Amino acid sequence: MAATGTEQQGAKAFYVTTPIYYVNDAPHLGHAYTTVAGDVLTRWHRQRGEKVWFLTGTDEHGQKIMRTAEANGVSPQEWCDKLVEEAWKPLWEHLEIANDDFIRTTQERHTVRVQEFVQDLYDKGEIYKGEYEGPYCVGCEEYKSPGDLLDGEGEYAGEKLCPVHKKPVESLKEENYFFKLSEYGPKLLEHYEKHPEFIQPESARNEVVNIVRQGLEDLSISRSTFDWGVKIPWDDKHVIYVWVDALLNYATAVGYGSDQKKFEETFPADVHLVGKDILRFHAVIWPAMLMAQGLPVPGRVAAHGWLMVGGEKMSKSNLTGIKPQDLTSHFGVDAYRWYFLRAIQFGQDGSFSWEDFSHRYTSELANDYGNLASRVAAMVGKYFGGSLPEATADGEAEQAIKDGLAKAVAEADRRIGDELDFAGGIAAIFDFVKQVNGYLTEQEPWKVAKDSSDEARARLATILYTAAESLRACAVLLNAVMPRTSGLLWDSLGAEASLGALADQHVQDAGRWGQLPAGSTVTKGAVLFPRLEEPKSE
Ligand code: MSP
Repeated sequence: MAATGTEQQGAKAFYVTTPIYYVNDAPHLGHAYTTVAGDVLTRWHRQRGEKVWFLTGTDEHGQKIMRTAEANGVSPQEWCDKLVEEAWKPLWEHLEIANDDFIRTTQERHTVRVQEFVQDLYDKGEIYKGEYEGPYCVGCEEYKSPGDLLDGEGEYAGEKLCPVHKKPVESLKEENYFFKLSEYGPKLLEHYEKHPEFIQPESARNEVVNIVRQGLEDLSISRSTFDWGVKIPWDDKHVIYVWVDALLNYATAVGYGSDQKKFEETFPADVHLVGKDILRFHAVIWPAMLMAQGLPVPGRVAAHGWLMVGGEKMSKSNLTGIKPQDLTSHFGVDAYRWYFLRAIQFGQDGSFSWEDFSHRYTSELANDYGNLASRVAAMVGKYFGGSLPEATADGEAEQAIKDGLAKAVAEADRRIGDELDFAGGIAAIFDFVKQVNGYLTEQEPWKVAKDSSDEARARLATILYTAAESLRACAVLLNAVMPRTSGLLWDSLGAEASLGALADQHVQDAGRWGQLPAGSTVTKGAVLFPRLEEPKSE
């Protein structure tokens, strides 16, 4: 929802971020998962009437990108430009991601401020020069502890492997600059203690607390054996470690060092959404960097699980060729946005399966929800000439629907908006859809319609009003998840004329009964969730 004038002036925005993605390749289902979650969360908060800022972007420096560009015979900048313009931005548009900004770490608005930040830390004595010797995984762009590595077998016999990529790590011996991360252990632990909500879910929190309790080592924050990065301002033989560069996007994109007003109205993030693989960077290194600079730390770092394929984290090497577009062309964009959040508990790993998607699509979206919408519109058309009748004979059955709606609204608002339990929140809304279907089955309006007495007409009007008003609420509640079909439903109910734009409807108010006025023009719009074509043979 647009800022509602003066009350929001100067208020801090609800600020949500996705990780900034490496552009060594095109986005896959895993990347889209995080971004859709962020989009749903921010659309929900906009529909609470809050001021919101949703940031995503791309992480373009480091060895991984440099090597990919080299392998493709182009400069790293050319590589990034091409992928951002041809693959990343178009996918977010396709998936209807309503981000407020898109930051690229090669932009000057970022690089200059990263240098200032690091220079400041250096001036404060937080950074010193030393020598790093140890393993490094270019896939993770991460320094590894020898104890975490796996022993290679087969083609990698005798080598040490990264536990995430299952590829040999590289042995680094370089002169580096170090950030005194080790000094921040006690402060971080104190913060975790005081703010139990800082890391979500609980299991992830415990893992981080254990790591920090074991003691932190200082962090190497520069590299000197390649040059695709932001230069260390006082020593240009070094580039800044890609993770330090990347984490700072959350500050530089909202005015750090350039627009103090914007910065104060936005920073720090209320929620950093991350995959569990990169939680440590966000829950340990990032807050320590901010503490060192005297800046406020984020409200919450919410880790989600992995989308799995064949028991492994989905990655570009084991995707079995499924792109987000392959699924959206079959199921549609709205169903795609809905499915992963509905089927997988946020925070847990989950497997994608074509069969499960088809099954849920048909039973929940097409049969329960889509059919309900088209049946109600058809009956208002048939029995009342498309003009929504007035409910004059409310009884117990109608009260049960009103109560069911109030419960669904409260539960969805708490789960989606506060707890990031998307699956639980969506389930609450679909339980209500089921309840309305059950109500129609019991009330049998098609039978009531056969009786032309005044009493029966009043009853029929009441039943159809109740169903249409329920759908009005469903459109409001599902708009964050499925903006296109919710818009179609809103149109079919003729709601805009009396209630205004769908995106301006407050979710927490969705349960207030009687908003859709009698006399609204109800039309049988497009089918919300068409029957699926035969699944592709794989
Ligand atoms: N560039 C870093 C992030 C820097 S943020 C300051 C990075 N990029 S990444 O492209 O490799 O991955 C980013 C995110 O993509 C992961 O944290 C996760 O959110 C998402 N995912 C990548 N693969 C995934 C799955 N298989 N499943 C779910 N999410 C996955 O790390």
